[in-house]
Amino acid sequence: MLILGIETSCDETAAAVLAWPERRLRASVVASQVDLHARYGGVVPELASRRHLERLGPVIDEALERAAVPLDAVDAVAVTCGPGLVGALAVGVAAAKSLALALGRPLIGVNHVEGHIYANLLEHPDLALPAAVLIVSGAHTDLVLMRDHGVYEMLGRTRDDAAGEAFDKAARALGLGYPGGPAIERAAKAGRPEAVALPLPFPDEGSSDFSFSGLKTAVLRAVERQLGAPADVAASFQDAVTRVLVEKTIRAARAHGARTVIMAGGVAANAMLRERMTDAAAAAGLPVLIPPLVLCTDNAGMIAAAGAWRLARGERSTLHLGAYADLDITEPVPHTGITEVDAGSELEI
Ligand code: KG4
Ligand code: ZN
Repeated sequence: MLILGIETSCDETAAAVLAWPERRLRASVVASQVDLHARYGGVVPELASRRHLERLGPVIDEALERAAVPLDAVDAVAVTCGPGLVGALAVGVAAAKSLALALGRPLIGVNHVEGHIYANLLEHPDLALPAAVLIVSGAHTDLVLMRDHGVYEMLGRTRDDAAGEAFDKAARALGLGYPGGPAIERAAKAGRPEAVALPLPFPDEGSSDFSFSGLKTAVLRAVERQLGAPADVAASFQDAVTRVLVEKTIRAARAHGARTVIMAGGVAANAMLRERMTDAAAAAGLPVLIPPLVLCTDNAGMIAAAGAWRLARGERSTLHLGAYADLDITEPVPHTGITEVDAGSELEI
C-alpha cells in the first residue's frame, strides 16, 4: 500500500509517500514557512493559510516525483485534520478530500499529535505497551499514557505555555531570533547553567502538569536586570526545562507501569533533552523511543504512518471530515471510524 500523507496544521507545508507495511518512507518533502513568519516572531495564521494554498500542490507533486510514484498509484490519502490553525488545516483537508474523491481511494483524517507519536513507529515497529509519551512541540506539552494503539489517557499537560512556545519566547527575550528552540540550543553551548539561577518550572511532585510562564518571566527579568550573559541565561533556561520534562515523564512512567518511554514533537530535537531522557529511562530500566531529528518537527511522513495504522485496521474518514482546531488525542477523529463509512456516504458531498 502506498499512502500519501499531507500536513498543513501550522507553518510547514508537507507531503510524503509511505510504503506500508514495509514502513519505508519513499519521499518526505517539507516546505518551511519560517522565513515568512520570522520577522513577526511567531506564526501569523492568515499568512500561513495563504502560503499553504500556494505551496501544497507543488509540494505534493515533488513528493510523488521523488518517490517515483504516479498519482494514480496512490492507495490512500492521510491528512492532518487537527489540532492546529483552522485555516491552515482546511487547506490540507480540502486537498486530501479532493484527491481521495478524484482517485476513488480511502481518506483518513489524522490527529497531528498522534502523528508525532507515530514518527517513532516508522523505525520501531515492536513497541512494548503501555508507554509513557511526552509530546513537546510549539503548541503542546502533553504527558500521555498510550495503553494501546489509538488508546490514550491524558496524564498531564501544560497549564499555560507549551515547552516549544517557552523556548520561542525566551529566545525572543534574549534577542536570539525565531524559531527559538534551535537558537537557544546553539547559544546555550557557550553558556554555564549555574551562572544564572532560574526557578525550576512547576516541579510540584504530585502533579504531572507543567507550567512554563513563571520561567519565561524569570528569563525576561534576567535580561532586563542584566543578571547574566545571554549564553548563560539560555543554558540555565534549557537546563531547567529539560530537567522538569524528564523528571515528570519518568515519574509518570513508573507510576503507571509503563514498559516504554516515548518522546515526540519539535522540542524532542533538543540534544540535551534527548540525552537526559535516554539516561533517565535507562536508569529506570525502560527502553526509550525518540524520532530521528528530521521526524521530530512537523512532517507528513508521521501523518502517513499514523494514518497507515488506522487504515490497516479498517478505519476510514468520510468526505464530511473537517478541520478541527482543538482536536484532543483522547477523542475520536470526527467522521472517522470502522463502521461509519459506506460507499453511499462517500458520495454524499
Ligand atoms: O512539532 P513542531 O515542529 O510544531 C508544532 O507542532 O508546534 O515544534 C516546533 C517547536 C518550536 O517551538 C521550536 O522552537 C521547537 O519546536 N524546537 C526546539 C528545537 N527544535 C525545534 N526546541 C528546543 N530545541 C530544539 N533543538
Ligand atoms: Zn507538530
